Amino acid sequence: MDKAAKRIRVSELLNTTYVGQTVRVCGWVRTFRNDRFLAVNDGSTIQNLQLVVEKDSTPSEVLKQLHTGAAVEAVGSLVESQGGGQSTELQVQELRVLGGADPEEFPIQMKRHSLEFLREKAHLRFRTNTFGAVFRVRHVLQYAVHSFFHERGFYQLHTPIITGSDAEGAGEMFRVTTLDLENLPRTESGNVDVQQDFFGKEANLTVSGQLEAELGAMALGQVYTFGPTFRAENSNTSRHLAEFWMIEPEIAFADLKDDMALAEDCLKFVLSYALKHSAEDLEFLEKREIEAEKGLPQTDRHEHPLRTRLQAVIDAPFTHLTYTEAIDLLRQSKPYKKKKFKFPVEWGVDLQSEHERWLVESHVGGPVIVTDYPAGIKAFYMRANDDGQTVAAMDVLVPGIGEIIGGSQREERLDVLKKKCAEFDIPEEHVWWYLETRKFGTAPHCGFGMGFERLVMYVTGMTNIRDVIPFPRTPLNAEF
Ligand code: 4AD
Ligand code: MG
Repeated sequence: MDKAAKRIRVSELLNTTYVGQTVRVCGWVRTFRNDRFLAVNDGSTIQNLQLVVEKDSTPSEVLKQLHTGAAVEAVGSLVESQGGGQSTELQVQELRVLGGADPEEFPIQMKRHSLEFLREKAHLRFRTNTFGAVFRVRHVLQYAVHSFFHERGFYQLHTPIITGSDAEGAGEMFRVTTLDLENLPRTESGNVDVQQDFFGKEANLTVSGQLEAELGAMALGQVYTFGPTFRAENSNTSRHLAEFWMIEPEIAFADLKDDMALAEDCLKFVLSYALKHSAEDLEFLEKREIEAEKGLPQTDRHEHPLRTRLQAVIDAPFTHLTYTEAIDLLRQSKPYKKKKFKFPVEWGVDLQSEHERWLVESHVGGPVIVTDYPAGIKAFYMRANDDGQTVAAMDVLVPGIGEIIGGSQREERLDVLKKKCAEFDIPEEHVWWYLETRKFGTAPHCGFGMGFERLVMYVTGMTNIRDVIPFPRTPLNAEF
């Protein structure tokens, strides 16, 4: 094998820069047609490079192994393609199989596999066009998020993954312990003696980096977190994971209006970025969605193709509604009157996904920001409004997903916050550090959390959150 030839990635070989040169290519076989045309993919692009193999000059033990999934290395000269369908192809001079893939056993064949089947093969599903595209887009989106905040002068803050605080107060945390579960140390009263645990106190995996991000924002001015978060909620839905990634900006000297503007700008920026930098993958995913929806009744199909929908979100201002207005609209809606909603629609009760989807999909037909929710259904840290009933909260809802962003202005008044802690049964000694930021130089501030997988779903058109994270963690599922 001519190791002197430079290894070039397929994405670069598809344009004509390297035509006439001898190059080295490595990748995985997608197909081998007519004993001559070998389609090779190396992950750099959704497109394959066509390798033209000369049967006579290729050892038969190599030819025998050219099955879908095999890893190959080839040296040859890049030429402009004779056939249609590709710009360039490689005239193979030397070909080597690095690792074969027995066609009887390799599960990812060129036929269309169901997403459910591929979830069971998550270790190999990267090899398909769909998952290659999804995970390249996922990468581009995280890069876009970092660009957006960096360009706006935010600092990324690495908040802890192991924490003692339950930011959302939902009590859905995974316990972190080194205690021997078979032999738990007990106090005299019979409780587990947490003082003997690793941290000398109870510790959990974080549900959100917000509380710590607030501390950073009260000095650095504007910060954001982008890290894994964990929720032990036992909801087996297509939009919930037990381990997911969240982006949480936090800004000082800002109110709910600023928060909403930031959320809208952020979403529009990352969508534009993906349309520009993931054009090829999104084109593929758009076609995939159209294919997948072919069997569905007209009413369950998207009216517009994926990229058109994303562009429409970028082009129009988001609709704003208060929670109270949303409840009124829902109570006047057809599904409410025809008793089609499963969950009640009453002031004071949280909106369910069926309500959110009616608002964005049927009523508005685009993203909606719902604000000023009842205090009782939101977290303790949200700023109390003057009406004494609602808090300065905002949720961004989008078609197909429902809630993609949840945020609020934070309660910066120490006395009000202490009262809230009491109402929510949060001992002040658990959050003494949080309270101190209100004692020393408190200031209005706000922030939000954007679920990264929900964003990836939205951009790729994938309908199950398990298909946009490499190895999903859900109830009863932690394989790989
Ligand atoms: O609305 P949530 O619970 O808000 C917070 O955690 C705040 N501390 C955020 C903040 O103000 N800094 O979660 C924020 C977002 C949701 O809108 C949703 O997109 C996503 O996180 N999310 C989930 N994504 C996947 N699986 C789950 N189980 C999720 N729970 C929330
Ligand atoms: Mg929320």
